[in-house]
Amino acid sequence: MELPFSESYKIKMVEPIRKSTREERERWIKKAGYNLFNLKSNQVFIDLLTDSGTGAMSDRQWASMMLGDESYAGASSYYNVKQAIKNILGFDYFLPTHQGRAAENVLFSALISEGNVVPGNTHFDTTKGHIEFRKASAIDCTIDEAFDTTVHHPFKGNIDLNKLEAIYLRYSKEQIPCVIVTVTCNSSGGQPVSMENMREVYKLSKHYGIRVIFDSARFAENAYFIKTREEGYADKTIKEIVAEMFTYADGMTMSSKKDAIVNMGGFIALREEELFKKAAQFNIIYEGYITYGGMSGRDMNALAQGLDEGTEFDYLETRIKQVAYLGQKLKEFGVPVQEPFGGHAIFVDAKRFLPHLPVEQFVAQTLAIELYKEAGVRGVEIGTLLADRDPVTRENRFPKLELLRLAIPRRVYTNNHMDVIAVALKNVYDRREDIRSGYQIINEAPILRHFTVELAPYQEEECSI
Ligand code: F0G
Repeated sequence: MELPFSESYKIKMVEPIRKSTREERERWIKKAGYNLFNLKSNQVFIDLLTDSGTGAMSDRQWASMMLGDESYAGASSYYNVKQAIKNILGFDYFLPTHQGRAAENVLFSALISEGNVVPGNTHFDTTKGHIEFRKASAIDCTIDEAFDTTVHHPFKGNIDLNKLEAIYLRYSKEQIPCVIVTVTCNSSGGQPVSMENMREVYKLSKHYGIRVIFDSARFAENAYFIKTREEGYADKTIKEIVAEMFTYADGMTMSSKKDAIVNMGGFIALREEELFKKAAQFNIIYEGYITYGGMSGRDMNALAQGLDEGTEFDYLETRIKQVAYLGQKLKEFGVPVQEPFGGHAIFVDAKRFLPHLPVEQFVAQTLAIELYKEAGVRGVEIGTLLADRDPVTRENRFPKLELLRLAIPRRVYTNNHMDVIAVALKNVYDRREDIRSGYQIINEAPILRHFTVELAPYQEEECSI
């Protein structure tokens, strides 16, 4: 008999988590303004809000922290990361930042100005936020297949080359500071970009003289999908695939909190010395001196080690199989999920789950609240709340997809936890007809509103006579 699959690690340290009652959860979520970000972590049983900074570090990462060099300038920890970036990603220049959005802030300060356009494959919300904050626009050139959760396509993160070329033809080179390829594409479901697409995007962009930047938060998961789905890569190691991927980029921003498996950190890596020098000035103003940029020496050491572990096949297989395990269970229960399953999360299609609710009532958020009330499982809305208002018209933007993201932290939960999540969602699914209405906004911030928004159960407006 073939041995079943199992994790490529054992557990050395545990952290207790607490179950709660439905009555408690109903009280807590009401007090939180029906915003799951406002819950205290001890009000949550299984936390799938994000896979960002929530992973479990390895014994080797913890050990490397003890050797952290906290020197203000020239710390050995900085050089450890620099070497790991050179070896694994191939870039000569690098700037540490405190997290991914800080890398965006620093790089975009050097790159993007008012009136610019930045094409890409569904920019992540902070990326889009940093672009729009500079009065530039982010243009989505993702392939159409990405927006239908029932269509099977191995690389739903791919950029549509025709859409991209149309942008290159419509705007001048000076108006397009870069194209951003997000690997994997978070917003459209943790979906990967194929090596072929990266190669073609790079070729096309070079033809038009446009810089290619990878938003690389989950680059290693992307490499796993290339290895397992794209012809010609089955026999290559993850590190070989990663090395090739980044030959199709002029630079990258990184949220190290994902595929480098650290709790905090980010960086920019570049090939161009000039751009590096310009960005370094902003790094000093916003983040810290060039050799620490918002990170402590010990955290940089853990990051260097994490980059190495995060690009190992056994680790990635364990992780991605766990995500697929949850996806499969949900599918068996008939719950509509995005397919193929993404790398870091399962995305539940809230429009198919609750087809009777109007999008104006925040369908995916309604589902997230129901799941929390059911079992203390905290997911996150990727829908109308996240899509925010149009910066010019201030009208709500209604995205094609209303998703509930169940992001799986790295090396944290067991498959028993996955079973609890699946059954909880099944229970909500079985009583979906009883969910007759959604929510309405009481209070919202002008940008990135989903973090702080306050909601109340939707009520018909009373007729004033
Ligand atoms: N780019 C992508 C693709 C991301 O998913 C994120 C963060 C960032 C950039 C920003 O990085 O959080 O370190 O500042 N995503 C998290 C998530 C927050 O939950 O998906 P950051």
